[in-house]
Amino acid sequence: MAQRMITLLAAAAVVMGGAATSAAHAGTTAGGRLTAAGAETTLGQLAAERGRYFGSATDNPELSDAPYVAILTSEFGEITPGNSMKWYATEPSPGVFTFAAADTIVSLARQHHQIVRGHNLVWHNQLPAWLTAGTFTPAQLRQILRRHIITEVSHFRGKVYSWDVVNEPLNEDGTFRQTMWYNALGSSYIADALRWAHEADPHARLYINDYNIDGLGAKSDGMYSLVKSLKRQHVPIDGVGMQGHLILGQVPTTIEPNMQRFVRLGVDVAVTELDIRMNLPRDAAKDAQQAADYTSVVSACLAVRRCVGITVWDYTDKYSWIPGVFAGQGAATPYDESLQKKPAYFAVASVLAAHSR
Ligand code: G3I
Repeated sequence: MAQRMITLLAAAAVVMGGAATSAAHAGTTAGGRLTAAGAETTLGQLAAERGRYFGSATDNPELSDAPYVAILTSEFGEITPGNSMKWYATEPSPGVFTFAAADTIVSLARQHHQIVRGHNLVWHNQLPAWLTAGTFTPAQLRQILRRHIITEVSHFRGKVYSWDVVNEPLNEDGTFRQTMWYNALGSSYIADALRWAHEADPHARLYINDYNIDGLGAKSDGMYSLVKSLKRQHVPIDGVGMQGHLILGQVPTTIEPNMQRFVRLGVDVAVTELDIRMNLPRDAAKDAQQAADYTSVVSACLAVRRCVGITVWDYTDKYSWIPGVFAGQGAATPYDESLQKKPAYFAVASVLAAHSR
């Protein structure tokens, strides 16, 4: 299965022409290397040289911003739709599916030879009112979940590299979150969801994705037990997504050993929603700390054989979700609000380039 991503990445590398390979023989700038043609090697190209992707989330309203799209489609090897594959967007009425917004992002990615992570199939947020306000028996809810997963995954069959099949199923203490799914169906909804997704697209890589499982700790222990039990039951689970919504100066020091223990269970790992927020305003010291923090995360991934890639939860502060949710915080991404590269960008480029062969 890992072979599939390598094939996808190889295809992308071919399309990138000789840029990635010739970069190995070219000079170095503050952030990365220059290709023979003098263009700076992109984060996507540098990551691809390590057999990984470096991607970004995006959302449909942002696609009318041409300078933003130019960077989104050139700098990154992977795209995750930030909202448009979620339940409220894809099944707004029972059994009525609308994939137009997600299709727009998937075709944009395909045009630019970028792989796509599907996000997400089962979650407790951004559900349509007909679902949250409805009254269903457990058997009905199970059928509703099955129909949703089979329909959505089938629609994107062959076009999505990996799915966050189950999103955020755990509490901070590692126990199961009491969601409408868990309350009606028990923890079996997780195995069912993975099996249905596998049935609909046997080649997609299937993930469970959560936050605050980046380093060792109670929540990560809960995820570890869950994945171990799923593997024991031969449930099709291919990866664990560590979202990576981190705080300046507080990046866990145990990302690498934490990733390693999941890999030993026989799954891939990925950093799926990376951002590192700070108290505003930015200043040079905070930018430097953030650069060091991004370096820590990227280095941890590069040290783990089956850490397949990193996605930033949008690449620019212009469209980051942070200020809207955490008052007084932000500046969490590698590009500023004017789409200029920040020290965090150059740090990521350097660490990827340093590890390139
Ligand atoms: O669609 C409405 C629009 O009609 C309305 O005008 C506008 C006014 O605020 O709101 C729009 O909905 C917003 C939606 O994003 C689409 O833009 C919601 O208010 C807003 O809450 C929602 O936020 C999203 C959030 O998930 C919801 O939990 C973020 O964009 C999205 O980046 C974020 O992503 C999550 C991952 O899925 C899971 N991990 C955490 C991550 C960050 O919260």
